[in-house]
Amino acid sequence: MSKKLFIETLGCQMNVRDSEHMIAELNAKEPYEITTNSEEADLIIIHTCAVRERPVHKLFSELGAFNKKKKAGAKIGVAGCTASHLGKDIIKRAPYVNFVLGARNVSKIAEVVDRDKAVEIDIDYDESDFAFKDFRSSSFKAFINISIGCDKSCTFCIVPKTRGDEISIPADLIVNEAKKAVAAGAKEIFLLGQNVNNYGRRFSGEHSKVNFTELLRQISKVAGVERIRFTSPHPLHMDDEFIEEFANNPKICKSMHVPLQSGSTDILKAMKRGYSQEWFLNRIEKLRAMAPGVSISTDIIVGFPGESDADFDETMKVAKEVQFEQMFSFKYSPRPLTEAAEFDNAIDGEIASERLHRLQEYQDSVVDNVMQGQVGKVFDVYFEELRADGHVSGRSSNNFLVKVKGSEELLGRIFNVKITDSARMSLTGEILA
Ligand code: 5AD
Ligand code: SF4
Repeated sequence: MSKKLFIETLGCQMNVRDSEHMIAELNAKEPYEITTNSEEADLIIIHTCAVRERPVHKLFSELGAFNKKKKAGAKIGVAGCTASHLGKDIIKRAPYVNFVLGARNVSKIAEVVDRDKAVEIDIDYDESDFAFKDFRSSSFKAFINISIGCDKSCTFCIVPKTRGDEISIPADLIVNEAKKAVAAGAKEIFLLGQNVNNYGRRFSGEHSKVNFTELLRQISKVAGVERIRFTSPHPLHMDDEFIEEFANNPKICKSMHVPLQSGSTDILKAMKRGYSQEWFLNRIEKLRAMAPGVSISTDIIVGFPGESDADFDETMKVAKEVQFEQMFSFKYSPRPLTEAAEFDNAIDGEIASERLHRLQEYQDSVVDNVMQGQVGKVFDVYFEELRADGHVSGRSSNNFLVKVKGSEELLGRIFNVKITDSARMSLTGEILA
């Protein structure tokens, strides 16, 4: 009988893909069956995120709960960014943890699982040309990592300390992954990296120089690839060549994540983001002009140290001007090992909460408007999920979640859908004959 694996994945899409890689490597050693019930698992992995403080606190209470209810002899491992960051301290605080596996050490999973109290968290470990075994949780959409680590030094962000320096994965490996995914039935390729449009700046060995725009061209030429998405690009590296390829290549889905972080040029400087409000707005203007119908999403941090009322007003101003189709907004959370954690001009927590509330309330009204404005339009929808209520759902190229009445024969296919109704999170429509 095969062993059972429970794996909880927190954080970003890179973690989602890293979890798939862990499952693939474990399975190559001995067969595992995935379970959603930790109590029957032989192996429990918590795949952590370190980007904000709250999930880190939660980790230890969760570990305690898993440990109490686990099957006799079951092992518990902690993986991901908090594993990189806290390392052996995790085992000090929770001595029943069997192993700690940092982000960027994922390829060692099959080995550490049998080495009690193993701690593998080297952020210089280079697995950029490691050929992982195959495992995908979706047959429709294939996540493919294009780089490891992050070379930026945003003063709020712990990621360079948990994922290390940025190294691009060789283009031929990526293209090969895309070919395998297509052969297995995927129409959509989702490229992942901390900073995707910085692709190609550094490889670990001798590799042909390919930048992100060229990589997009290469992927779009793979027979069977119908859609390409990617995350996250950095506003600083959105040169004209990149925006033009994004707009003109029909295989690239017309949704772009452009993380603003703050609308105030002064705060952007303190964050070391490398661009100004003007540059950001100029890039958005170019995107909207070149790719009509594009959806733009963003990330915003409020209450960064030193953020004055006037600075926050600049963030509100950009939100009003851009009308983001989607926004992820967070209250600043000081993180260890970051520059901003040492700043002495923290913002009062209540003021930050009030600003976050104001921003989110405004953004909700934008989203309501955006969603209502889609009624009557026609979108190409790639159907991926069967829902319990007799509907099938998928994403339009510009990333709206669209539902139609139907059953599994729609799955894995792209149809034109006329939108008949809207809600805040999704659209409803009818397939056009
Ligand atoms: N506090 C709050 N939000 C943060 N993010 C990154 N670091 C912090 C922090 N210290 C947010 C950024 C990033 C997203 C993934 O998380 O907006 O884009
Ligand atoms: Fe979280 Fe960032 Fe690590 Fe992703 S890279 S898991 S968002 S800390």
